[in-house]
Amino acid sequence: MNTYIGIDLGTSSAKFLLVAEDGAILAQNTQSYAVIYPQSGWSEQDPQEWFAAAMRGLEQLLAGQDKSAVRGISFGGQMHGLVALDENGAVIRPCILWNDGRTEQQTAYLNRIIGKETLSACTGNIAFAGFTAPKILWMKQQEPENFKRIAKIMLPKDYLAYRLSGAFCTDYSDASGTLLLDVKNRRWSQKMCDVCGISEQMLPSLHESFAPVGTLRAEIAAALGLSPAVLVCAGAGDNAAAAVGTGVVGEGGCNVSLGTSGTLFVSSRGYREDKVNALHSFCHADGGWHLLGCILSAAGCNVWWTEKVLQTENFDGEQAGLDAFLGKNEVYFLPYMMGERSPHNDVNARSAFLGMRPDTTRGQMTLAVLEGVTFALRDCLEAAKMNGVAPPRTMLCGGGAKSALWRRLVADILHLPVDLPQTEEGPAFGAAMLAMVGCGAYKSVAEAAAAIVRVRETVEPDPAARLYDDRYETFRTFYPALRSAFARM
Ligand code: XUL
Repeated sequence: MNTYIGIDLGTSSAKFLLVAEDGAILAQNTQSYAVIYPQSGWSEQDPQEWFAAAMRGLEQLLAGQDKSAVRGISFGGQMHGLVALDENGAVIRPCILWNDGRTEQQTAYLNRIIGKETLSACTGNIAFAGFTAPKILWMKQQEPENFKRIAKIMLPKDYLAYRLSGAFCTDYSDASGTLLLDVKNRRWSQKMCDVCGISEQMLPSLHESFAPVGTLRAEIAAALGLSPAVLVCAGAGDNAAAAVGTGVVGEGGCNVSLGTSGTLFVSSRGYREDKVNALHSFCHADGGWHLLGCILSAAGCNVWWTEKVLQTENFDGEQAGLDAFLGKNEVYFLPYMMGERSPHNDVNARSAFLGMRPDTTRGQMTLAVLEGVTFALRDCLEAAKMNGVAPPRTMLCGGGAKSALWRRLVADILHLPVDLPQTEEGPAFGAAMLAMVGCGAYKSVAEAAAAIVRVRETVEPDPAARLYDDRYETFRTFYPALRSAFARM
């Protein structure tokens, strides 16, 4: 049977999957790399480390497998990162990542001086600090020598496609997060290029996520023992890839991801814009569109609390028995460790615990962290509802979905039945599915999803009581009350 490779280029690691045409996972591995924090609120990575990780991951993935069966490769990737290459194809500076908050001034310039109305008219979105366009402006102002050298701008996963195939390309879903794409019409915005002082030639060619963009470079194919005819398909931003991998395609599907970031993703056939700009309006990898709420720290908050503060890796042990406190915890946690994207758009927001008393336990604080992240996702759901979008249920994926307690909290706090996919590797599995479509194994992304995505379990929200409504209403009062204090900090 033909096989396909899906690569998810994440923030803390890259995941590699070898998947058969029927959806069976034949091999997988993960390669980790570091995030560099050069200053408080900044985050960067070296694109060459991604490529080195990709070669290691692919080699391990293929060891002992039938290499002649591999037909295609595709990607899901962390979004919004600014990868800038010079005219020789060399990386000019480390990639500035999606959760980097250095562009407060450039973001304010775009939203206030260029104006939210113009940005919305050109791109369907306003500026958020993590988007690519404010980073280009930052580089222009703060690193003019580097800026002058830019010949090519691309997104993180596009760097892998470039190194593996030589194609200078991107896809509509990932391009949506640059604030340079006219999302409604699926083309680069000339006006936004002018605003950022770049030419359209510096931007990659645009493709549907499942479109083949080239084949493996001869030397890469030889190094991996693959045929040079293996097709490289454009791929998608990680959230769109995860939605494909969980079968969230077409109209009205919903996927929640609890990864380093947390996202709420609602798919639609047609273009839709958020009237209050809390959510992003992006192209989907199935040829349609989606609304996306993104909170910058999700599972990342739990990793920080458990590993850094409690100094243990026993996540299950820390969460054991906490069901007893469901809906009754007096402690609250604000998850804004890297500032916040949706719905507050505030790089100065910070995390906080509130409501402790002398008898507060470690367990209540652990529960508060998981609840706080989930309340922030409820903020995204409420924003979707304000746009008339009310998904009846949701899929759930990402590292946080491994916790039974957290799955229950998502169901209870969002008041939605939560479906868990058989395959937990959302973005990497979605990437492999995009390669299948690109190679003609399925006619469309929707057809691939219907054929191979399965639900293994559903968590129903607590039917007895809306346990969390009161607590959510209290949670909502904290950010407005603390906003000015955060700005002073
Ligand atoms: C989405 C976003 C994050 C990253 C994480 O807008 O910024 O979900 O894609 O990898």
